[in-house]
Amino acid sequence: EDGIRQELGSLHGIPLFKSFIEGWPQVKAFQARPDDLLISTYPKSGTTWLSEIMDMIYHDGNVEKCRRDAIYNRVPFLEMKVSKGLSGIEQLEKTPSPRLVKTHLPVQLLPTSFWEKDCKIIYMARNPKDVAVSYYFFHQMAKIHPDPGTKAEFLENFMAGKVAYGSWYDHVRGWWEEKQKKKILYLFYEDMKKDPRREVQKILQFLGKELEEGTVERILHHTSFQEMKKNPAANYETMLPTLMDHSLSPFLRKGISGDWKNHFTVAQNERFNQHYQEHMAGSDLHFQMEV
Ligand code: PPS
Repeated sequence: EDGIRQELGSLHGIPLFKSFIEGWPQVKAFQARPDDLLISTYPKSGTTWLSEIMDMIYHDGNVEKCRRDAIYNRVPFLEMKVSKGLSGIEQLEKTPSPRLVKTHLPVQLLPTSFWEKDCKIIYMARNPKDVAVSYYFFHQMAKIHPDPGTKAEFLENFMAGKVAYGSWYDHVRGWWEEKQKKKILYLFYEDMKKDPRREVQKILQFLGKELEEGTVERILHHTSFQEMKKNPAANYETMLPTLMDHSLSPFLRKGISGDWKNHFTVAQNERFNQHYQEHMAGSDLHFQMEV
């Protein structure tokens, strides 16, 4: 039942909520439209931030239009399924084109229709230390997740890929490799923090769209952490309290890069660095652990 912590099942080897696995046949058969734009991320990597930016771009910086509904309704979550309320698929069926679609699926599980229709895809990645910290706090507040245990226990599970959506390494590397072949814009949370204007320009170029400088300015302002944190349409506060308890940890928690330093012990950091090097070996994909 919704609001009750779920054990993870396995979807083709990827740990995932059992309710999502039940809905998998509908997700697999999803019919994308050519003008769908997919926002793909490993959890806690800047999905909501990128979603708000994209909705603002799609509405030419019109703040009022972007308050029309909560972000999780404006950008439906493809594989989402809980017992009450519409599934991601059902939401998408009601959404007029051009649609923005959110997913956390690893590249090998993306419904084939997105490839067949040659949909544009924007992937956003974030350094794994901050993802692990953010994911830990998210496990506390978003009740669908299994109990995370202690920070140390959670970090072990994260490193071993024993969390929803599996290994961070496989996820970021899988999508990175696909980028060589497909229409994918691959962005980094740390770059967005450092120079959001430059990243928004990259997105506009990818979309083949031009916006006036004032509009870009409005988008940057509206999608800043401070603005999003106080915007009920962006901060998830309208979610059922049984699903998310913001008193335990707000959805827009800190929004910085390098917060892992406040949570990792020296020993954990050394172990993590070692593990990171082993699992990223041979890849030309690199992460900034702070900006
Ligand atoms: S989810 O549940 O997987 O979709 O979560 P996701 O949106 O990917 O990640 C949540 C983290 O992103 C931070 N966030 C932001 N950072 C900077 N600027 C803006 N505007 C912004 N919006 C969301 C959010 O605070 C979470 O990170 P932490 O480190 O926990 O604060």
